[in-house]
Amino acid sequence: MHEHERGEQPSGATAQAAEWDARYRERDGTMWSGRPNGRLVAEAAGLSQGRALDVGCGEGADAIWLARRGWTVVAIDISDVAVSRAREGAQLAGASVDWVCGDALHTPFPPRSFDLVSMQYPALPKAAGEAAVRRLLDTVRPGGLLFAVYHDLDDEHRDHMKSRGVDPADYVGADDLGGLLGDDFTVELRVVTPRIDPPPGAPHIADVVLRARRL
Ligand SMILES: C[S@@+](CC[C@H](N)C(=O)[O-])C[C@H]1O[C@@H](n2cnc3c(N)ncnc32)[C@H](O)[C@@H]1O
Repeated sequence: MHEHERGEQPSGATAQAAEWDARYRERDGTMWSGRPNGRLVAEAAGLSQGRALDVGCGEGADAIWLARRGWTVVAIDISDVAVSRAREGAQLAGASVDWVCGDALHTPFPPRSFDLVSMQYPALPKAAGEAAVRRLLDTVRPGGLLFAVYHDLDDEHRDHMKSRGVDPADYVGADDLGGLLGDDFTVELRVVTPRIDPPPGAPHIADVVLRARRL
């Protein structure tokens, strides 16, 4: 897939894209810190470089960090606003990333083609169906890693999100993702752990980390 190419966008995804675009536009500047996620940095620092897919890349800090460390990176996000910001950030950083604006659950990436599939705080809707999630997981190549990090939400947090119109139960969580892994994946790590280097004032201070390797 080449830079500026659009991933596939089924109709439900059009509404999601508009919602995420609106969230990103609420901020004059950027929505996220511009720094790569600490948990990904800690994990990837020990890996050999290869091909990485960043699912729900947001404003691109992780993808840019991976690319600058020598990874060949494809990064996808459903929000055009986020991908535009990511692209600008990459230009400033002199990083080469293959940016895709589209729905990660309906974009036909080649199966078994990535050494690392990274999902950092993904917001993939369950409504897309299990087959779509399985297809995304199938992009991990044999010997490669799925590395997914989620916010650890308590009841208060869930209620707060619901009051803002977002029910976490509608999204594919760490346990849902783990349950969709085929027999050819081994879960190497599934842990709740303090978030590394959370942005100041962030309510999310603990992570659920899932690392699975494909045999
Ligand atoms: C909580 S943000 C995390 C962004 C980034 N990974 C980070 O850690 O800063 C979730 C991101 O997923 C994107 N997203 C939501 N649904 C998506 C989908 N179906 N396909 C691709 N990206 C999606 C959103 O636009 C948003 O940028």
